[in-house]
Amino acid sequence: MEISTEQKKLTQANAYIAKNSVAVVKSPSRLHYHFMPPIGWMNDPNGLVYFNHEYHLFYQYDPYGVEWGPMHWGHAKSKDAVHWEYLPVALVPSEDYEFSEIERGHGCFSGSAVVRDKQLILMYTGNVDGRHPKQTQNIAISSDGLHFEKCHENPVIASFPEEGTEDFRDPKVWEENGQYYAVIGTKKEGLGKAALYRSQNLVNWNYLGICAQSNGEQGDMWECPDLFKVDDQDILLVSPMYGLKNSSPLAISGIFDSETGKFVQDAYDFIDYGHDFYAPQTLIDDQNRRIMIGWMNIWFAEMPEKKDGWVGAMTVSRKLSYQNNQLYQYPVKEIEELRYDGVSTSEIMISNQNDFSTQLHEAADIEIEIDLEKSKAEVFSIYLKASETVDEYIELLVDLTKGKLTCIREKSGAGEKTGSTAPFNHELAKLKLRILVDTNSIELFINDGQQVMTNRVYPLGEDNLFKIISEQALYLSQLNYWKMKTIWKGK
Ligand code: FRU
Repeated sequence: MEISTEQKKLTQANAYIAKNSVAVVKSPSRLHYHFMPPIGWMNDPNGLVYFNHEYHLFYQYDPYGVEWGPMHWGHAKSKDAVHWEYLPVALVPSEDYEFSEIERGHGCFSGSAVVRDKQLILMYTGNVDGRHPKQTQNIAISSDGLHFEKCHENPVIASFPEEGTEDFRDPKVWEENGQYYAVIGTKKEGLGKAALYRSQNLVNWNYLGICAQSNGEQGDMWECPDLFKVDDQDILLVSPMYGLKNSSPLAISGIFDSETGKFVQDAYDFIDYGHDFYAPQTLIDDQNRRIMIGWMNIWFAEMPEKKDGWVGAMTVSRKLSYQNNQLYQYPVKEIEELRYDGVSTSEIMISNQNDFSTQLHEAADIEIEIDLEKSKAEVFSIYLKASETVDEYIELLVDLTKGKLTCIREKSGAGEKTGSTAPFNHELAKLKLRILVDTNSIELFINDGQQVMTNRVYPLGEDNLFKIISEQALYLSQLNYWKMKTIWKGK
């Protein structure tokens, strides 16, 4: 029997990964408890789904290089949304709607997953630059959650709608009342848009119209839309490609009517105030939790780990909730299983006479609770990954009078230097900070995840000093920190 091109490419990719990833798995730049590729380039999380009692995470992947290239779908699974096991590559660009001999900009672009009759079904964009239309939507089906068969009817959505353009990608599919819906990113005349489709069988799709679009200030191409309900609130996530500072993805709250196909916007905010967060996607699990994972990078950043043969990481799994008219995100509780050697202190007064300083593990989890009523300080600083010997560190500068927290990355080695700022509510009795530190990442959750800030950092020096410095009295009602175990064998 003749072996298909697809099969040959799958075998080749998996053999390449098995042979070459060994050295990369031991590279010092690798993270301890964040998902990253075994080797090569990774961007968006794709196909997040809970299937057969396990979480599945697929990702935009080029195993052969550390720059973006022909997109495959990498694949991993997890029992707890924390420990990930690498699986064979799920999709390779092999068909004419996703592959081209002559240009690199082709591939199986981002998409999502849905479970139907015990089958795991992927819906994704085939991209071939220089072909018309270049972006189409496709389906691949699996019964075992490991091997995927591309549907003979592909492309199942062969062209973009009249209200959109050639940029037409990243379907997010879900099931509602026995029907399937897909929201797909597009743009026209400078406005990002989310196109909505409905289907009975995932193969024949009806276009229902543009369900939401940019109000003029929300970016000009909406990549990776995701539309769902959390705590009874309809939320649309979009990653605007251009037109916004830092390309920060937005969470838009509103009212979605699946009959009229319209999502009426109410309010919106950045999902994450850091520099390194893009293309988030969500799933719903067996505990009815809405869990989000984002790409913990941004296009065109430095990404110094390229020199070690890998690039790209995911945020931790974050549980979403909707409270006080806002979307909250918080690390799933399973992450706490990684903590060890904890130190827990209460009632600490920090002042110019009394700094706090300790050495952390390269991977750490920190909880700080500040009593704002007892504190006199107007500003204070938290230093992370600071060194005894070189002038390198990350500074979190907290302005309690303005309710502003700034991450300063000027002394952070080979990485990007631009800082980022998040607002927070400083009129509460307490300010709560949870900081997840890993080899080269800092995820900061303010006030139980009301605001979040994700940054990649690469400071030189190995002391991992953690300091809190304040001129005027700062009263910590609680300070806890732990070392974090690695989720990777061989790290
Ligand atoms: C988002 C994105 C998607 C696209 C994919 C290509 O980061 O640009 O729109 O499908 O990456 O890798």
